[in-house]
Amino acid sequence: MVQLGQHPEPLHTIAHISDTHFLDGARPLYGALSSEATLQRALEQLEISGLDIEAIVFTGDLADLGETDAYQRLRAIVDPAAERLGARPIWVMGNHDEREPFAEHMLGAAPSSAPQDAVYDVNGLRIVALDSTVPGYHHGELTAEQLDWLRGVLAEPAPHGTLLALHHPPIPSPVEIMAILELQDQPALEAVVRGSDVIGIVGGHLHYSTHSTFAGVPVAVAAATCYTMDVLAPVGTLAGVDGGQSVHLTQVYPDRVVHSIVPVGSPPRVSGFSGRVLERLAAMTPDARREAFSNKRSVWKLPPEA
Ligand SMILES: [Fe+2]
Ligand SMILES: [Fe+2]
Repeated sequence: MVQLGQHPEPLHTIAHISDTHFLDGARPLYGALSSEATLQRALEQLEISGLDIEAIVFTGDLADLGETDAYQRLRAIVDPAAERLGARPIWVMGNHDEREPFAEHMLGAAPSSAPQDAVYDVNGLRIVALDSTVPGYHHGELTAEQLDWLRGVLAEPAPHGTLLALHHPPIPSPVEIMAILELQDQPALEAVVRGSDVIGIVGGHLHYSTHSTFAGVPVAVAAATCYTMDVLAPVGTLAGVDGGQSVHLTQVYPDRVVHSIVPVGSPPRVSGFSGRVLERLAAMTPDARREAFSNKRSVWKLPPEA
């Protein structure tokens, strides 16, 4: 592929999905919405794109109530799609999950109440799944043992750096009440992350897409695929709504990470053209390409079938 601009191809392309909140028997969440249908559509969109997606990172709240059937239903939807994509699913615990069934059904491990932390090597990109949950609570915590473990993992840099995936993102929220449920003692995590090879932190929990920094590292929170939080609901209220669901496309370049927010759905197409146009532009010299596609007075014609 011809490089059309100043940036090389990404080293890695990852899908980041969060907060599926599946229920036993596919019961509609709040009796109102099908999280399964939204997730299925999101996975279809990933497949239609034709992108070479190496992993799909799910940052927690996979099941709404930690039910076995919910986990099994999630696997039944994600596993075949991931296989067709050639992408590895990476599962992270959320506060709505329960460690024992998560370990058994999502990781294929023995049921355990221990933190479900794990390290994955995705073609040189290290993805660390960090379990920020507290059994019986909705806020987030990382124990001293987990932080020691993470320090040990990060001691040896990975070839393409590390993406840290945890449910509770270490950033503030305009939805004030969420502060009660945030990750506690964030300076302790900061001390481990600062100066390490962590190139990005991805999270969920907030149910809206947001971006910030932590310890000098960019943070990206993917909105939920179930319901989303209306950030502009009147101050002091909490309003979950059936709309605005999205996923992230996370691309790792040699010098940065780019997160693109992709709304889930099937909106009507109103403009555009096929890949034939790009093929023809790529075959031109850089100057001819600019004249054909950038010049406002360009009379370059699209191929008839475009
Ligand atoms: Fe959630
Ligand atoms: Fe959550």
